[in-house]
Amino acid sequence: MNTQISPASPAPAPPVMRIRALSKVYRMGEIEVHALRSVDLDLYAGEFVVILGASGSGKSTLLNILGGLDTPSGGTLRYLDHDLSAANERSLTRYRREHVGFVFQFYNLLPSLTALENVELVTEIAPRARNAREVLELVGLTDRLNHFPAQLSGGEQQRVAIARALAKRPDVLLCDEPTGSLDFPTGRRVLQVLEQANRELGTLTVVITHNAAIAAMASRVIRLSSGRIGQTEVNATRAAAEEISW
Ligand SMILES: Nc1ncnc2c1ncn2[C@@H]1O[C@H](COP(=O)(O)OP(=O)(O)OP(=O)(O)O)[C@@H](O)[C@H]1O
Ligand SMILES: [Mg+2]
Repeated sequence: MNTQISPASPAPAPPVMRIRALSKVYRMGEIEVHALRSVDLDLYAGEFVVILGASGSGKSTLLNILGGLDTPSGGTLRYLDHDLSAANERSLTRYRREHVGFVFQFYNLLPSLTALENVELVTEIAPRARNAREVLELVGLTDRLNHFPAQLSGGEQQRVAIARALAKRPDVLLCDEPTGSLDFPTGRRVLQVLEQANRELGTLTVVITHNAAIAAMASRVIRLSSGRIGQTEVNATRAAAEEISW
């Protein structure tokens, strides 16, 4: 009798992203930079993962590969049943467009469009889009819908960028230094929005930062050093974003 199969304890859900022995080498003439060295990592639905590391440790390289913006030099990268490491440019573009939300340090909003129009740009083409107004409401910008980026603070622009990323209903939200250009209270407000979106929408969220204070709000903290994954911690209790300071 197989005692391992029990309806009371279903098998854990498979990871959304599965990375094995991932490497990235940048070649510039004679010089090789090993940005990632044999990285193994599984990312699960609903997690809030913070990746910490010093400047140059490979954080953006890892995030760009996870998001299909760049390709690895070696190893494998799977998204659910799809082998992204073997994907051609066309299927990577489709993966990015349909499944990944990006938030960068600089908000990359279109200056000639209002907050609402910046989000609608996505909702008009994404196959499973959320309602643009609802997602702007989630990030607390109901009273700024018709403002242009130049009429919004940095933190508000970043919240529009988060709304835009969430509007396509991504399976994974990838954030590269989302508070990097913001002062402390504004940055914390942005973290609150990311926390709320993770809680209410269940979106797998990956935040990379060199700000160690942000680790307290993660469900899991991964440390990257010289292109390798070092210590990984699961936070038994997560700090609320408003409890964090730096
Ligand atoms: N396009 C590129 N061409 C050549 N080398 C690169 C390229 N992008 C990154 N690198 C190098 O790869 C290493 C990792 O860079 P990466 O941008 O991933 O670091 P990071 O952890 O995001 O740093 P930061 O905190 O400064 O953003 C660095 O040594 C960097 O100089
Ligand atoms: Mg970086």
